[in-house]
Amino acid sequence: MSFHVLVPDNVHQKAIDLLEASDGIRVTAPGKLERADLLVAVADAHALIIRSGVMADVELLAGAPQLKAIARAGVGVDNIDLAAATDRGILVMNTPGGNTISTAEHTFGLMIALSRHISQGHQSLAEGRWDRKLFSGVELKGKTLGIIGLGRIGQAIATRAQAFEMTVIAHDPYLPPAVAEAISVPLLPLAEVYARSDFLSFHAMVTDETRGMVNTDSIARMKDGVRIINAARGALINSADLAEALKNGVVAGAALDVYEREPPPADHPLIGLPNVVHTPHLAASTSDAQVTVAVEAAQLIVDYLLEGKADNVCNPAVLP
Ligand code: MLT
Repeated sequence: MSFHVLVPDNVHQKAIDLLEASDGIRVTAPGKLERADLLVAVADAHALIIRSGVMADVELLAGAPQLKAIARAGVGVDNIDLAAATDRGILVMNTPGGNTISTAEHTFGLMIALSRHISQGHQSLAEGRWDRKLFSGVELKGKTLGIIGLGRIGQAIATRAQAFEMTVIAHDPYLPPAVAEAISVPLLPLAEVYARSDFLSFHAMVTDETRGMVNTDSIARMKDGVRIINAARGALINSADLAEALKNGVVAGAALDVYEREPPPADHPLIGLPNVVHTPHLAASTSDAQVTVAVEAAQLIVDYLLEGKADNVCNPAVLP
């Protein structure tokens, strides 16, 4: 008996090599599949390795009667219906550490691009203009960065911001205070972080509590001229409300890597605004991070299928 592992997205070849070298594993790695082809391909799969672009929803899980495990090459499992997977006894695992630095560095890049109008300056020069006055920016040194969600990525951003001589404060109701103390970041109530921050960077998961947390009400509690960065999940932001605040200057700028729907629709209210910098969900897209998360995900699947060993489990209720 061999287990069929389907990899219906572009993950690093080293992960495929690891799977192919494992006795008892048969791997199919066709690259990114269209939805219809994916639904056919999962029919006899025992395990899946996916990135954020594959929706492992009720329909897909129902069409995969042999499925035992899904490994997410990345952090967020919001593209996997965890309740449905749990009902079907399918173990879901992720690779939470593998893309921390890449995501933190991209977030930092977005913050610098935002403070110095780098994308707008690039575009204007490419279009033949020499707009030196238009794109005067602000320094990061001496500014306050508020981090909402001080997990692995938030912490990596905090230490980088401290190196830039920023004052870093954070809100995270779930983090043990000692972790924040160890990197000299005060944990404060959300209202205080909003009121004091020149830059706000969001690193929370999407839950009922955090969905749309950037909205007209919360923006009214932020500093006038705040700059907002989101490289976590698009649904943290109410896009229409933020667009309004960017148009009337209450929010000076926003830098975004993520959108409620990806790819976002052509008429997305934030895309193309002059004070918005945006990238197409690139934060974890480095060769370094993609090797790490792919190999970790492949190892998780091999260990679970062949030895029953389960690590980084997102739905522990499946385990005996
Ligand atoms: C993640 O959740 O790990 C990131 O958003 C990157 C990805 O798309 O895999």
